[in-house]
Parts: sequence; C-alpha cells; structure tokens
Amino acid sequence: MNAIAEAITASAPARDELARPLRDLRLSVIDQCNFRCTYCMPREVFDANYRFLNASERLSFDQMMKLVRGFVALGVEKVRITGGEPLLRRGLESFIERLAGLTTLSGAPLDIALTTNGSLLAARARGLRDAGLSRVTVSLDALDDAIFRRMSDVDMPVAQILDGIEQAQAVGLAPVKVNAVIERGVNDSQILPLVRHFMNTDIAVRFIEFMDVGGAAGWSNSTVLTAQNMRAIVENEFALLPLYADESSTSVNYRIANAKGTVGFIASVSQPFCGKCSRARVSADGQLFTCLFAKQGADLKPWLGDAVSSDELIDAISTRWQNRDDQYSELNADRRRSGQRKSWPTVRMSLVGG
Ligand code: GTP
Ligand code: 5AD
Ligand code: SF4
Ligand code: SF4
Repeated sequence: MNAIAEAITASAPARDELARPLRDLRLSVIDQCNFRCTYCMPREVFDANYRFLNASERLSFDQMMKLVRGFVALGVEKVRITGGEPLLRRGLESFIERLAGLTTLSGAPLDIALTTNGSLLAARARGLRDAGLSRVTVSLDALDDAIFRRMSDVDMPVAQILDGIEQAQAVGLAPVKVNAVIERGVNDSQILPLVRHFMNTDIAVRFIEFMDVGGAAGWSNSTVLTAQNMRAIVENEFALLPLYADESSTSVNYRIANAKGTVGFIASVSQPFCGKCSRARVSADGQLFTCLFAKQGADLKPWLGDAVSSDELIDAISTRWQNRDDQYSELNADRRRSGQRKSWPTVRMSLVGG
C-alpha cells in the first residue's frame, strides 16, 4: 500500500438541480466480462462479433487517476470499481495501489470498493487487499448450479464463486456483500438457500429487484419480484429485525433473529431512491453518466490529457453535475402505474457497471 497520503485541494462542492451532492464515483475499468448473464450480456448480442472497447479506447490508469482526483476535489469519498468484470483489466492492483494513496477532502482515506462476479477472486483477493482495496461486493444469483449456469451462461460451478467470497472474507476485504438479482420465475427459489447459506457469517446478502436497464433482455413488469415480495419469502422462515437505515444506502437491511447475519433488499423499481442519489458513473472509455438509465454520457476524455489543467477537468465535471436533473426510477414508477413502458434505449449495464 502507498504509505504517502496525497492531499487534494477542495473545489466548491457540486450540487445538482435537485440539490443532491456528488459523493460516489462508480468507475468502470473494462466493458468485457467472462460471464454472459442473460439479463445483462445475452450471448446473442455479446457474441464473437460484438465490438468491445479496445485497449486504446479505454482510459489509461494515468487518465483514471486524474479523473478520480477531480472527483475527490468535488467531494467524492467513495470509489467503486466496476466493469463488465473489473478483474479482467490487466494491472488493476497497481491502479488500486495508486488510488489508495488519495485522501478525501476530510482527510480520511478514500473508500475503495469493487464489484465483481467473483469468478477470479479467490486467487486475487490477497493481492487486492495488499494493494489497498477496502471491500468487495460479489454478484451471485443462485446457489443451485443449474440455475446459476442458466443465468450466468457460463460453465462454472457455484463453488468457484463461493471460494472467492471466502477468500475475500479471510483476507479482510470487509464488509463482503453478496448481490443477487431476482427474476421472478427464474431464481426466486434461490432466495431462501442464499439466506440460509450466509446467515451465520458476516457476509451481507442483498436481493435486488430486476431493473429495466439497457441490455436487460426479457424484462417486463411481470418479471419483477418486489422487495416486499422477497421479504415475505424470507419472513416465512426467519424473523427479520430492521436495522438502522444509512442515508446513502441503496438497500434496506435487516438482522436475522437468532443469527449473525443480515439481509438487505434493493427496491430500485418499486421504491426508487433517486432523491438521495449521489452517484456518478464513468465508463471505461471516459463517458460520464449521471444516471444508470441515461441515454448517453458526456465524454470526459478531452480533459484527461496532460495538456489540460485539473481545474478545467473539475469545472467540466462540476458543470455536468450541476445540470443534472435525473430521477429516472421515480418518474418511471409513475409511468408504470399509468401503464406506460420505457420506449427508448438506455446505456448498457455492462458499460457502466450497474
Ligand atoms: P455501497 O454503499 O458501496 O455498498 O454500494 P451500493 O449499496 O450502491 O451497492 P452496489 O454497488 O452493490 O449496488 C447494488 C445494486 O443496487 C446495483 O448493482 C444496482 O443494481 C443497484 N443500484 C446501485 N446504485 C443504483 C442507482 O443509483 N440507481 C439504481 N436504480 N439502482 C442502483
Ligand atoms: N437489474 C438489477 N441489477 C442488475 N445488475 C445487472 N443487470 C441488472 C438488472 N437488470 C446487477 C448485477 C450486479 C451489478 C453490477 O448490477 O447483478 O450485481
Ligand atoms: Fe458480467 Fe456482471 Fe453483467 Fe453478469 S451482470 S454479465 S457478471 S457484468
Ligand atoms: Fe440515481 Fe438514476 Fe438510479 Fe435514480 S434511477 S437512483 S437518479 S441512477
């Protein structure tokens, strides 16, 4: 880990049109993935002819460092590294080591999290921790091998992901969180097995409502199992005790009575949380998206070269954040209630990392 903390000079904190501050950056480091989850990268679309970003189109780690410094100057305290599958990006540990040298405006170390499908995690967990990664979130939609294979469309045993989760836990990448997207009729049978598997560990399991994001093949209203439905399934077997709600959290969390573990529900569809959304997303080619459901991003690459000052970059980010009025999920909830459907394509989840 980098021993010398790098202080960053504050710029006026940015507030968007709905007075939401900029707190979290979700930075995608690669748009490729070794899985083909049917709801995210269906194989018919992401086939051998699909044009992924090539190495020269992706931001270099130097460009990403300049970018992150700019976001930190505007008040960002947490950086979540995403993909596609971020562990496919070569040299990721060296980038994390550089990130770990940054401090937030309040002087605290930057919180560096990673979202991964877990398939490559077992062998990498220790190195990631040594580089300065704070914590990981692992996506795992099923414990049953057949259901897992069907959803991720890869020939891999669930045990490989569980091994990754265990290693992450063992080296202290805590808190380890497990995210499961639940599609009605596809993996709702997996809610209880997932709860039972993790209920006596420190690993938090969170169930996510299936969202109508770009690339979500087969989405319709009827494929969404609401957080309320999911909770009822868990409560059939376990008593749940509400936990203190952290302002910035996407999930509503519960402790399982008489157990060590917690479960959470992310109700992005049925109970959207746009009002407190402080997340900016940047794709691996440097496009800034101010909403998961944005139609297009703003290209930040012109500001990431050496010839442009950091102040100009900060200004560019700040202007775009100040012009932000996104609240897609809130508006869409109203639209769905009146029977309308989204009729425009939005950015692919695999480009902005969820
Ligand atoms: P931490 O607070 O760092 O743990 O992050 P988080 O709770 O945002 O967790 P995570 O990145 O694991 O997000 C969990 C899931 O919630 C994502 O994969 C998305 O499905 C959903 N989600 C996260 N952020 C947003 C958002 O801004 N809008 C919507 N609609 N869904 C989101
Ligand atoms: N709805 C909800 N979550 C999704 N993810 C990907 N696509 C969707 C969707 N349509 C989740 C993944 C992972 C995170 C990166 O985003 O399962 O947990
Ligand atoms: Fe890969 Fe995650 Fe998308 Fe699945 S959901 S294809 S693991 S990026
Ligand atoms: Fe934020 Fe957009 Fe998600 Fe609302 S829909 S919480 S504005 S990313």
